[in-house]
Amino acid sequence: MLRRHLLLGFAGLAAMSAAAPVAAQETVKVGLIATLTGPQAASGRQKVAGAKLYMALNGNMVAGKKIELIIKDDTGVADITRRHAQELIVNDKVAAISGFSLTPLALAVAPVITQAKIPAIIMTAGTSIITERSPYFVRVSFTLPQQSVPIAEWIAKNGAKTAVSLVSDYGPGIDAQDAFKMRFEEKGGKVLEQLKAPLANPEFSAFLQRAKDLKPDALFLFVPAPTAGSLMKQVIDRGLIEANIKVVGTGDITDDDQLNGIGDSVLGLVTSHFYSAAHDSPMNKKFVEEFKKANPGMRPNFIGVGGYDGMHAFYQALEKTKGDTDGTKLVEAMKGMSFESPRGMLTIDPATRDVVQDVYIRKVEKKDGELYNIEFDVVKQVKDPIHK
Ligand code: DHB
Repeated sequence: MLRRHLLLGFAGLAAMSAAAPVAAQETVKVGLIATLTGPQAASGRQKVAGAKLYMALNGNMVAGKKIELIIKDDTGVADITRRHAQELIVNDKVAAISGFSLTPLALAVAPVITQAKIPAIIMTAGTSIITERSPYFVRVSFTLPQQSVPIAEWIAKNGAKTAVSLVSDYGPGIDAQDAFKMRFEEKGGKVLEQLKAPLANPEFSAFLQRAKDLKPDALFLFVPAPTAGSLMKQVIDRGLIEANIKVVGTGDITDDDQLNGIGDSVLGLVTSHFYSAAHDSPMNKKFVEEFKKANPGMRPNFIGVGGYDGMHAFYQALEKTKGDTDGTKLVEAMKGMSFESPRGMLTIDPATRDVVQDVYIRKVEKKDGELYNIEFDVVKQVKDPIHK
């Protein structure tokens, strides 16, 4: 009896090993390093929701391999981002990492990915220089100069002769205000002062009072999206909108995730950005509907779209390499990639690995009882104007 069992056991084992190449499905792991706690947590929540939605709608099989997403919370601290990147690469053997809310978090992984030759797909961070810091960075989000130049042109064309800028004092803020100043002054305007508020302490009232006292025609603003609610409340409380100062900015300040919470005082406010939940395309309508269904109470913003498109870029790359997970081949496969996103068409510039896309000029309006950024003009297929 025992012997028969053993024999059966061996037969079973033999059958299993014969079937192994088919049965043992190879798994390809992708790391997603998001900021899920702390002041920037809204960013991670969107990114994870976007990436998961992409997988839910497109399945988890690519080129015959099963995709597994490993999510890590970096709490917004660069050392933790770097440690997660190292562990994902060394212990989990991921084929790629992705995520990165704040610019310093992306910069922290540059040496790690360069040494390991593993691609890192940037889903949010927007400082121009990032993609130059490693040949393994590929960006599907945006750059601040790419967004700031179109609004500088728009406000100059719409009668502003003087402006003040106020931004968060770190990479993307500096990029945003420098690009704004460059184009606004090229168009004959004058930037009276470039104000910078500390990133860690979202207390803007002294800076806003200074901006008000300078009596500019326009005030240009940038803060990372999760800080938009607190900035805009202070803009309203300080009476800048009533003071006849035309408040403009990149779309980070009227982020779709926060806009309803900011309230009707910002009706009519004009910003430039690559994504609006109100973007009028069949693909975006479906994306917004599915996103809301999967995440009750949430509305997608540009960070959610970054998560969604970042997964798409990885899927497409793995499809192109026919399942080969070599990091250098995956980056090569992403260069020059072009696809429709909920935002519109985007292309990964093969020379810079940075995103080229339409930038929309939008105005806050009420639609079906909710505030939206309604697109009314577009600058087609904009490259980062600084690091071309
Ligand atoms: C960055 C972060 C954001 O949340 C944002 O809206 C724009 C830029 C950044 O740190 O690069």
